Amino acid sequence: MPKRIAVLTSGGDAPGMNAAIRAAVRSGLDRDWVVYGVEHGYNGLVSGQFRVMTARDVGGIIQRGGTILGSARCPEFKTVEGRRKALRELNQEGIEALVVIGGNGSQTGAHALHEMGFPVVGVASTIDNDLVGSQITIGVDTALNIALEAIDRLKVTASSHQRAFLVETMGRNCGYLALMAGIAGGAEAVCVPEFETSPEALAEVIEEAYERGKAHAIIVVAEGAKHNAQALAQYFIDHNEALGFALRVTQLGHVQRGGNPGAFDRILATRLAARAVEEIDKSNYGVLAGQLKGEITTTPLAELVGQTKGIDPYLFELAREMAY
Ligand code: ADP
Ligand code: F6P
Repeated sequence: MPKRIAVLTSGGDAPGMNAAIRAAVRSGLDRDWVVYGVEHGYNGLVSGQFRVMTARDVGGIIQRGGTILGSARCPEFKTVEGRRKALRELNQEGIEALVVIGGNGSQTGAHALHEMGFPVVGVASTIDNDLVGSQITIGVDTALNIALEAIDRLKVTASSHQRAFLVETMGRNCGYLALMAGIAGGAEAVCVPEFETSPEALAEVIEEAYERGKAHAIIVVAEGAKHNAQALAQYFIDHNEALGFALRVTQLGHVQRGGNPGAFDRILATRLAARAVEEIDKSNYGVLAGQLKGEITTTPLAELVGQTKGIDPYLFELAREMAY
């Protein structure tokens, strides 16, 4: 009997998830295993939405954003009963191991299933880059480049009109996307959840940039910052702040998630998912395939649960220094 494994994508989709599905399927097929795709993340796991994947099913998808399997948020999987349902479905199909491609929440779910005795290996994939166990996760690089393209364009129109733009990035509770977009986009200020910037302090930064003769001010604000972009704009209106520049707000939102993956994410996804299948082959379960110090590594899922990767204070300071 050939070994049967399954692969799913869960949580917020990330550019490169398709490349990861392709790699998991083809690495499994290379070992003469049967590989199932699970539709719509953990929703498909609890309701038995499995389909056998062939090499052709994953053809022509490496360059596509999103996930051909679909993704979802599944509250039921957070309950023991939900996970028991998933176990019943997996056992009924004779599936022996599962690859979970997803972010922090998804890997917490993977760990919970593994704790119930099922062999699971995770693949680090989220644009938020908040997962301990991988310095960079699948989707981050592409999302960052999308944010940068927007910032570059906003800077053009900002300069024409001597305006300040509050540009809000995604990232949930992690400021990584905002910080890196701020550094690479030459922002005048960056607001992240990890380091608080008061509206008063930010007003001062914008005003000083105006006084130094800048034609624009770009402020990148992480959605999880204490004061998000809308709140900051409202504060400036309510307090009649004399910023110098007129102010506009742009929320990048899901635009950042929807792009086609760049080379970095395609390669990272291919390597991480292939490594996940290798770990299954070695019966090394309950781990996350990630990248640490340039190497493809595995970290026990137990070490990630409840953790959020922080951002480098040096880089936050560098963003400030470069804004002069
Ligand atoms: P991401 O994986 O992108 O961080 P979420 O945090 O929304 O996305 O998590 C995706 C899914 O993972 C959730 O909808 C849920 O099904 C599962 N999950 C999250 N946290 C847990 C948990 N504590 N226990 C079991 N499953 C969880
Ligand atoms: O986890 C990825 C992410 O895009 C976060 O950055 C964001 O907070 C969240 O998902 C948005 O979720 P939804 O797609 O459910 O609106």
